[in-house]
Amino acid sequence: MSVTRATAFAPGSVANVAIGFDILGFSVDAVGDRVTATRSATPGVRVLAIRGTKDDLPLEAARNTAGRAVMAMVEALGLDYGIDLEIDKGIPLSSGLGGSAASAVAAVVAVNALLPVPLARIELLGYAMQGEAVASGSRHADNISPSLFGGLVLTVGIDHPRVKQIPVPKGVSAVIAHPHLYVSTKQARAILSGTVLMSDFVWQTANLAGFISACYTDDIDLIRETLQDVVIEPQRQLLIPGFMQVRDAAMAQGALGCSISGAGPTMFALALDADAERVRQAMIEQFSLRKLEVDHWIVPMSSAGARVVAA
Ligand code: HSE
Repeated sequence: MSVTRATAFAPGSVANVAIGFDILGFSVDAVGDRVTATRSATPGVRVLAIRGTKDDLPLEAARNTAGRAVMAMVEALGLDYGIDLEIDKGIPLSSGLGGSAASAVAAVVAVNALLPVPLARIELLGYAMQGEAVASGSRHADNISPSLFGGLVLTVGIDHPRVKQIPVPKGVSAVIAHPHLYVSTKQARAILSGTVLMSDFVWQTANLAGFISACYTDDIDLIRETLQDVVIEPQRQLLIPGFMQVRDAAMAQGALGCSISGAGPTMFALALDADAERVRQAMIEQFSLRKLEVDHWIVPMSSAGARVVAA
């Protein structure tokens, strides 16, 4: 007999990782959303409650990332029962830490636990992507995939995505600093130019290829050389007060690279474990100089993906 109620946790994530716009991200287990799914005799998908945020999020299932993801799943599987959802937000809204993706991922993982024969993770990816598109305005998986699978994850393709977990370099941590500001992902995407200079395209491609190969070979020097976004960051940095100073301060303390987490305003740096604390303090100080409160973490680049925590 299958369960009728399950709760899943899905971690936050750092998308883009500077050089992999819309295709690369890593999970951040220090923050996450929980979704409880309950089987209902009444057909349809309902969002009964959203807790943990004082900001308004839509309760209407079709406009909610978790609700929309589960609607897609229910429809595709032809489930003859309904689903009630309760969402506990642990990730700050519009922070660049993958909150809308995490809600969608936690929702599909919770619903999956209600099925007599659960689907494979890769099959859940498409449903979660449909959910996240409600918030960001387009389908991309660079937050969804790490939140669902865990670790540093490359996603290739949209309609039939292929997912590759990339080994993380040994002895490297991620420093994450979230200033208390809101950046709308839709707006941060709308300001991006539709064209890229050929020279920047070549540079960014080299950086992405170099970074990925450096991860496979633990080549710290190559990570330092390649963790630089020459396409998106120059266009978005104006959305983050003190961006240049935060980045420069992190680099001065030995960061391997420092850039925007997803659409921002959160910034992340990669650093050798021995340098991570100094990098963190430098980033906090620069945000504080601008009277911004900051949440901050030092986390491994690899952590577990979404999981059922109660059933
Ligand atoms: N890759 C996305 C972006 C992540 O930077 O717009 C946020 O959805």
